[in-house]
Amino acid sequence: MIELHKAANVALTCLPRQLTQREEYLMKMPLMLVAGATLVMGMTDVKADEVAAGEERYKVNCVNCHGKTGKGMAAFPALAGRDQAYVADRLKKYRAKEKVGPNSAIMMSLTKDLTDEDIENLAAYISATFQ
Ligand code: HEC
Repeated sequence: MIELHKAANVALTCLPRQLTQREEYLMKMPLMLVAGATLVMGMTDVKADEVAAGEERYKVNCVNCHGKTGKGMAAFPALAGRDQAYVADRLKKYRAKEKVGPNSAIMMSLTKDLTDEDIENLAAYISATFQ
């Protein structure tokens, strides 16, 4: 009985302190949420710009071989299902005149004038659009 009493006492004395910590946390929550949301919105904007720029370029320079839905055809490989890092890496390899497959020469000439930004935009568009 004395033990129980002691336990209850400990619980009671702990309670106010725990509440204050929790309240402090709760008070910071809205601030953290706003900060998080702003960050995500900022990132989404950048991403949307990249995708839009990439789409423009893709429609001019890539669609003839890789297709409107990125499915490719015959010797032109599908881009669908490739992630952003993969596509960017491939494009940089071709630009650096590195041989990847049997028909790399085609891609080498197509990528020679691409800037890093063009490549990021194309990779963002391709990975976000073709599943
Ligand atoms: C004239 C047709 C043609 C055009 C236009 C073209 N490609 Fe390609 N693409 C190819 C061929 C062929 C390959 C395979 C090359 C090889 O064997 O290494 C390829 C490969 C690729 C790969 C690597 C795929 C893999 O699975 O590794 C990517 C990424 C790619 N192209 C993106 C693009 C982008 C982006 C554009 C527009 C800037 C573009 N291609 C324009 C024909 C084309």
